[in-house]
Amino acid sequence: MFEIEQKVMDESRQGEAYEGVLDTLSAPNKRFYIESYGCQMNFSDSEIIASILQSSGFGSTRDVEQANLILLNTCSIREKAEQTIRKRLTEFKKIKRSNSSLLIGVLGCMAERLKSKLLEEEKLVDIVVGPDAYRTLPQLIEEAETGEKAVNVLLSREETYADIAPVRINSNGITAFVSIMRGCNNMCTFCVVPFTRGRERSRDHASIVDECKDLFDRGFKEVTLLGQNVDSYYWVDPVSNHAVDFAMLLEKVAKINPALRVRFSTSHPKDITEKVLQTMKAYDNICKYIHLPLQSGSTRILQLMNRTYTREWYLAKVKRIREVMPDCAISSDIIAGFCTEDDQDHLDTLDVMRNSKYEYSYMFMYSERPGTLAAKRYKDDVPMEIKKKRLEEIVSLQNQLSLETNKLDIGKKVEVLIEGNSKKNEKQWMGRNSQNKVVVFDKTDKALQPGDYVWVEVKDCTQGTLLGNMVS
Ligand code: 5AD
Ligand code: SF4
Repeated sequence: MFEIEQKVMDESRQGEAYEGVLDTLSAPNKRFYIESYGCQMNFSDSEIIASILQSSGFGSTRDVEQANLILLNTCSIREKAEQTIRKRLTEFKKIKRSNSSLLIGVLGCMAERLKSKLLEEEKLVDIVVGPDAYRTLPQLIEEAETGEKAVNVLLSREETYADIAPVRINSNGITAFVSIMRGCNNMCTFCVVPFTRGRERSRDHASIVDECKDLFDRGFKEVTLLGQNVDSYYWVDPVSNHAVDFAMLLEKVAKINPALRVRFSTSHPKDITEKVLQTMKAYDNICKYIHLPLQSGSTRILQLMNRTYTREWYLAKVKRIREVMPDCAISSDIIAGFCTEDDQDHLDTLDVMRNSKYEYSYMFMYSERPGTLAAKRYKDDVPMEIKKKRLEEIVSLQNQLSLETNKLDIGKKVEVLIEGNSKKNEKQWMGRNSQNKVVVFDKTDKALQPGDYVWVEVKDCTQGTLLGNMVS
C-alpha cells in the first residue's frame, strides 16, 4: 500500500531538487542545493527561499557534492513524509564527513514542528527555519558558519513575502504557482498545518496581480493561485479601506489577459461561494476545475474531523457546482481509516465518491500527527490492515471513476495549452485542458511550441490521459 501513497507523493513532485539560478550569477563562491517535499505551497516557498539566497550572494547547484549549503524544505503532513526526510538526512552524512564546512538546513513544516529538537535528534543539522522566518536565512547561515546552531521558528501573523519576487524553480516557462495566502485557521482535527504554518493571512492583491502580469509578460500562460484555503482570501487595503475577496481577486487575475489561464487550489467546501462559482463561469480563462477535498463521506467522521459540513451538504455543493458549470471537473482528498471509522463510514465515503464522480483524488491512510486535536482527543484505533484495505478500495473506485469520466470526453474537442513533449514519445505533445486533464496528441507539420493553445479531438483515453488528434 505504500506504493499507492508513494505514487500520490510522486505526483506532488516529492523531493525534487532545485535547478535554475546558477546562470544568473557569475562564479558565486557559495552555492546552495535545495530539495522540496510535500505540497505545492512548499515548492512555491522554495522559490522565495531561492530569491532570498540569490539576493545575499548565493548561487545554486543541482549537484549536492558541489554545495556549501544543503537545504531540505520539509513536510510533516503524514509520518511517512517525515521518515523520508530523516532518511535523506542520513544520506547527507557521508558528504558532510568529507566536507566539514558544509552546512545542512531543515526548513518548512518539520522544522516548525520539531524546532530545536531537530538539532538534538539529527546531529547533522546546523540550521532550522520555520515557514515564516525565511527572511532571516542569510543571518542564520552566518551564525551557523561560526559554529553556532541557528534556529528561527517564529510564526508570524503578517508575513506573506509579498515583496519577494520568486525565482522560478524547474520551470517549464509556461505554468507557475503564485502564493496568495499563508497559514490556516480551520483546525481540522487530523491536520498539523495550523500548527506548522500558523494563522491565516492574505497577501496584498496588488502584489499578486503584479506577479501574475509579470509572469504573463515573460511568456507564462497559466497561473495557479495557491493557499491552504483560498476561498477565505480577504485583503483590506490599508489606505482606501477597499476590501478584496477571493472572487474579486480571481476576476482581477483573469482580466490580465484572456490568454492567461487561471487555476486555484485548495478550496474548503464550506468556504467556496456562489460568487466564486459565478466568476469562474463568467471567464473562459478561469479553468473549470475545483479541488474540493471531501476527507470522509460519513457525517459522523466529518464531525470528528471538525470539517463543519455533513455528507448531504457536501453533495449539495457538488450538485451546485455542476449546475453552474456542467463542464467543471472536481477532484478530492480522501483519508482512509480515521479514528473510530467503521465499515459503514467507509461505505459512505465510497458512496459520496460515486455521487461526486471525481475526475481525480489524492488518497491517504490516516496518520496520527503529534500535537493535533485528533491525537489529543481520539484513539488511532483502526488497524493498519483495515486502513490498507479501505485505501485499496478507495483507490480502485477512483481509478474506475477517472476512466469513466475520461471516456465521456471521447469525441469532444478540447482546448489544450501545450506544456512540452510527451514524456513517453517526443513525437507527441503533452498539455492540459481547462479541466486539468492531461492530453497527449501527435505533432504535425504545424510549427508549434510550448505555450501555444490548440484544439484536440479526443479519440481515446486511459485512466490518466486523454489521447487525440489536433484539429483546426
Ligand atoms: N493523515 C492522513 N492524511 C492527512 N492529510 C492531512 N493530514 C493528514 C493526516 N494526519 C491529507 C488531507 C489533506 C491533504 C493535504 O493531506 O486529505 O487534504
Ligand atoms: Fe489542514 Fe484542514 Fe487547514 Fe486543510 S483546511 S490545511 S486539512 S486544517
